[in-house]
Amino acid sequence: MKNKKLLGRFLQNFQNPKGFCGKIILWGMNKGHSSLSHWGMSHITWIQDWNVLDVGCGGGANLAQILKHCPQGKVYGIDISQVSVDFARKRNKELLSTRCFVEQGTVNELPYTNNKFDVVTAFETVYFWDHLPLAFTEVARVLRGKGYFLICCEMNDPYEKTWPNRIEGMKIYSGDDLKLILSESGFISVTLYRRKNALCIVAQK
Ligand SMILES: C[S@@+](CC[C@H](N)C(=O)[O-])C[C@H]1O[C@@H](n2cnc3c(N)ncnc32)[C@H](O)[C@@H]1O
Repeated sequence: MKNKKLLGRFLQNFQNPKGFCGKIILWGMNKGHSSLSHWGMSHITWIQDWNVLDVGCGGGANLAQILKHCPQGKVYGIDISQVSVDFARKRNKELLSTRCFVEQGTVNELPYTNNKFDVVTAFETVYFWDHLPLAFTEVARVLRGKGYFLICCEMNDPYEKTWPNRIEGMKIYSGDDLKLILSESGFISVTLYRRKNALCIVAQK
């Protein structure tokens, strides 16, 4: 019972990394999510001077990847966890405050002006957003006219309860669930890609 509680507390760091265990999880996610994020990013033809926002940026490995895709652009990260923000800043310290900017905050209230970004990305994070219509509407607000919203999820079977049972507040969405909420939040074009169990969505306003 005690071990189950400890494990539950440890796994909660996937939703909002905190303390030393949070740092361990961020280190692991930077490595473990690279295949998914490389695959997801391959669905976009990147332009060198694009401005990009990665929401739920975690440990910042995906920011580093995007900085390579857009060598003349600016890349922003935002995460609800201060431990993630510190980790991501450290991971991208060479370009911090010149081409890379990382802030603490929630997707429900993005601290950016309208139409600021060419691309907004979200890797392995929408499961934890507590109000998807609000979050997607915020993303649409900060995206420029024909900008892209890229969502990547390793899990997309809502009937698979193993992880949601372990991590409080986690919800798994199917591709069709996400497509419907996107279209109700201002996205007109929504394309789904699948690889084994993984799902990638590219949406445009
Ligand atoms: C499973 S991690 C994924 C991190 C990173 N995107 C990756 O692929 O390695 C989920 C991240 O989303 C962040 N997050 C959860 N809810 C959020 C919210 N409402 N707004 C912004 N970030 C959030 C968490 O703090 C955590 O760093």
